[in-house]
Amino acid sequence: MFIPVDQSSILSKTNPLGEKYICVLNDLSAGETVDLPEVIKARRSIRRYKPTPIAEDVLRKILGAARLAPSANNAQPWKFIVVRDEDMKLKLTGACNNKKWMAEAPVIVVACGFPDEADSYMGGYMNSFSVDVAIALDHMILSATNEGLGTCWIGRFKEEKVKDLLKIPSDVKVLALIPLGYSNEEPESAGRKNLSEIICYDKFS
Ligand SMILES: Cc1cc2nc3c(=O)[nH]c(=O)nc-3n(C[C@H](O)[C@H](O)[C@H](O)COP(=O)(O)O)c2cc1C
Repeated sequence: MFIPVDQSSILSKTNPLGEKYICVLNDLSAGETVDLPEVIKARRSIRRYKPTPIAEDVLRKILGAARLAPSANNAQPWKFIVVRDEDMKLKLTGACNNKKWMAEAPVIVVACGFPDEADSYMGGYMNSFSVDVAIALDHMILSATNEGLGTCWIGRFKEEKVKDLLKIPSDVKVLALIPLGYSNEEPESAGRKNLSEIICYDKFS
């Protein structure tokens, strides 16, 4: 995914397709600023991908961002399966309501969580593994945006089918599938609630 770079305040780079995209975290020289809010604003769910492969170093940077995510007790109760095999990507779409567009992406990341390794009593009532993995995935997704790549969080999948296909052990949970690739669409923002609807001060209201 990319956004047109016409504001001089935004640091721009060019992806392998010759398209400009914003870059905020990588290759900064001393004195250059990091503009994380621009990356957060630029991200969209992408459902059309170009077949352009992702360079290994770019992929490693994106996966490395997940590695740095915080987790309860620093348990890091996760594993990310990087699926590049064309046949397997297509099979995975069969576990996701046949969303064939997912397989257009050169990579599908399958995010797994380990409940047995996570904090089992977060807030006094819940296992932290899904929160931990979600934070790591958000790191990954924002890093991908920063690299000019599109993603889409896929939550509608049949876990048993994904586990069968990828030989995932029974005590491991599948949290999400994330196609990763160069965007072939430029969707508008889906819109969001106003800040006043989601924030309150000093007590719930
Ligand atoms: C937990 C979660 C599950 C989602 N599941 C799906 C999904 O199964 N299929 C899909 O196309 N998009 C899915 N999405 C993407 C959302 O539809 C999308 O984030 C939302 O509409 C806002 O659009 P935006 O991401 O472009 O801002 C999911 C997003 C999240 C965070």
